[in-house]
Amino acid sequence: MPEHATTAVAPEAEPLLRTRGLSVHYGGVTANADIDLTVGAGEIVGLIGPNGAGKTTFVDAVTGFARSSGEVILSGRRIDRSGPHRRRRAGMARTWQAGELFSDLTVAQNLAVAVQPVGLRAMVADVINGSRPPAGVVEKALDVVGLTDVADRRPDELTLGQQKLVGVARALVGDTGLVLLDEPAAGLDTHESREFGGELRRIAATGVGILLIDHDMSLVLDVCDRLYVLDFGRVIAAGSPAEVTRDPAVVAAYLGSAEVEAEPDTPTDGQASGESTATESTATESTTTESTATESTATEETR
Ligand SMILES: Nc1ncnc2c1ncn2[C@@H]1O[C@H](COP(=O)(O)OP(=O)(O)OP(=O)(O)O)[C@@H](O)[C@H]1O
Ligand SMILES: [Mg+2]
Repeated sequence: MPEHATTAVAPEAEPLLRTRGLSVHYGGVTANADIDLTVGAGEIVGLIGPNGAGKTTFVDAVTGFARSSGEVILSGRRIDRSGPHRRRRAGMARTWQAGELFSDLTVAQNLAVAVQPVGLRAMVADVINGSRPPAGVVEKALDVVGLTDVADRRPDELTLGQQKLVGVARALVGDTGLVLLDEPAAGLDTHESREFGGELRRIAATGVGILLIDHDMSLVLDVCDRLYVLDFGRVIAAGSPAEVTRDPAVVAAYLGSAEVEAEPDTPTDGQASGESTATESTATESTTTESTATESTATEETR
């Protein structure tokens, strides 16, 4: 890249997402402090750290749902002054930590409502014309996550793993280049989580960049190309899964702690892992809405 290049950075030289000095303050709490992070096209980047470290806040800040300072750059363009809907249209989408599906809508309808335009004009158009997402976008997203066959089923007819994929597909609908997934695999058992990880790899292989937040370390270490570790809002380590897991600061702040999910199949860690397995299986057996409630309760309890 020549030095006389203009201030707009050429997209090919830039990762899909770059944040520079991203900070969020809630009253006296610094929820995100000077976060520099990148996600490339086709890359899966993990964001991990203890409860309350600021992971969800980071997603809120990047997607425009939390007031932040610093820079958010999508494909070389600064978008940190744009509202959430503009950022969504620019090609980034998120899932929510308690992202339940509409249980009385089909899978396809759950995706369709995610792309309904917002605002008064859209509402009027909706009343006059009946609103529909552009042809093919729902089908395309279902195809990417391999759920075409269950498009007309309701969420409670799906496995929990498939339900979680509907949540991801909902974010992929439209021209989404970057998805930020906030604990998308919560409640999945080891086998389901491994399958889910395989789907994430397939999605990334289509060129989509993925930021993945999860406490399920086997999933994160399996699928992520790179990891960032947050503690008290700050990046305390970044690098490959191998580099990060042997970093003593990461072990002290997070990997040695209770909220890291042990694998249910290998209860070698004694009591703590037994408890986390019990919570997970409760979540697995309940309906979609109840399972998300269980998940958020579980998250609260580990704080
Ligand atoms: N809307 C808000 N108003 C005030 N404080 C908030 C708000 N959202 C988050 N916080 C605080 O910011 C900090 C970071 O919270 P955040 O939810 O981002 O953590 P997290 O890493 O996602 O945790 P978890 O693993 O439990 O989901 C916490 O101290 C939290 O209490
Ligand atoms: Mg969170």
